[in-house]
Amino acid sequence: MQILDNISLKPYNTFGIDVKAKHFVSINSVEELKAIYSSKEYPSKFILGGGSNMLLTKDVNALVIHLDLKGKTIVSKTDNYVLIESQAGENWHDFVQWTLKNNYGGLENLSLIPGNVGTSPIQNIGAYGVELKDTFYSCAALNLETLVIENFTKEECDFGYRNSIFKQKAKGKYIITSVTFKLSTSNHTLHTNYGAITAQLEKNNITNPTIQEVSKAVIAIRESKLPNPKEIGNSGSFFKNPVITTDAFKALQINFPDAPHYIVSENEIKVPAGWLIETAGFKGKTFGNYGVHKKQALVLVNYDDAKGKDILKLSKLIQNTIYRIFNISIEAEVNIF
Ligand code: EPU
Repeated sequence: MQILDNISLKPYNTFGIDVKAKHFVSINSVEELKAIYSSKEYPSKFILGGGSNMLLTKDVNALVIHLDLKGKTIVSKTDNYVLIESQAGENWHDFVQWTLKNNYGGLENLSLIPGNVGTSPIQNIGAYGVELKDTFYSCAALNLETLVIENFTKEECDFGYRNSIFKQKAKGKYIITSVTFKLSTSNHTLHTNYGAITAQLEKNNITNPTIQEVSKAVIAIRESKLPNPKEIGNSGSFFKNPVITTDAFKALQINFPDAPHYIVSENEIKVPAGWLIETAGFKGKTFGNYGVHKKQALVLVNYDDAKGKDILKLSKLIQNTIYRIFNISIEAEVNIF
């Protein structure tokens, strides 16, 4: 375990923001992680997983811990299900592809999401009608006060839309070190009702898709809409889709009768933030070396060496404009430092 000084974090965040870490260490085992947390040498620490859900707006005056725990284990297997434990530092998409190669079903709709396995439960990643919680079995996390590994069941994680206990009362108190998934080994349940998936499968004349074909369809949809962070810095959806009351939605419909929406409950309606941002005129707008993606307005992009604080300023301008036009508050989905 080697502690380095003054390291650029550009390769470690998908937004590609070039800020510096005062100190930096890559961690390969839970023992190393415990050793770092029990040492008094670096009182200020900053944990970095896949760096895919974070906007860095300043240098990090702390020890940045790059969690690089690797490995996958089959915990148990029956005729119908397999329990697989993946260490936190496995790349999410590579892990999903590995499960599909083994014909384990459940994660196919979550193909091509940037980031690592260990951060996936924090915001309960989701796409195309599926959320992480649907296949999540449990996770192991280091309690940063006691330095003991604790196990969290699905119920204990208290998952919600882009939300979990790790964003609420357990925030900053744990580091997830591994996640266990319950995946199907036969009779896979497919989730292909999401409009874009149905259309993609029809386009390829697939009527009875396999889990691998669903994954391919999802990859094609994502590649057509979302920028590849290896080419254009971004953090996926920058904002969450706002959930508003039915009354607030009726008020919106007076001026915007065609506003797209999904019913969440009797009194709650979700409005796509991408539509709000596009309608406000921001889609595809560039401001020098950063801007709003031209194919999906929910994604802010760094074209070339933009500063995190400029992207943050743009996000505030978007939030204020949306509030002024629609009287709706939109909240950032990414973590801002
Ligand atoms: N829309 C627009 N303009 C845009 C983008 C979207 O009008 O530029 C409207 C359209 O009406 C469209 C609707 O928004 O029908 C929904 O768009 P899309 O299917 O692209 O989904 P989203 O709500 O914008 C969410 C997730 C994505 C996930 C997709 C697909 C959030 C915050 N985002 O986006 O997740 O991939 O659904 O399931 O819930 C991420 O979290 O980083 C992410 C990419």
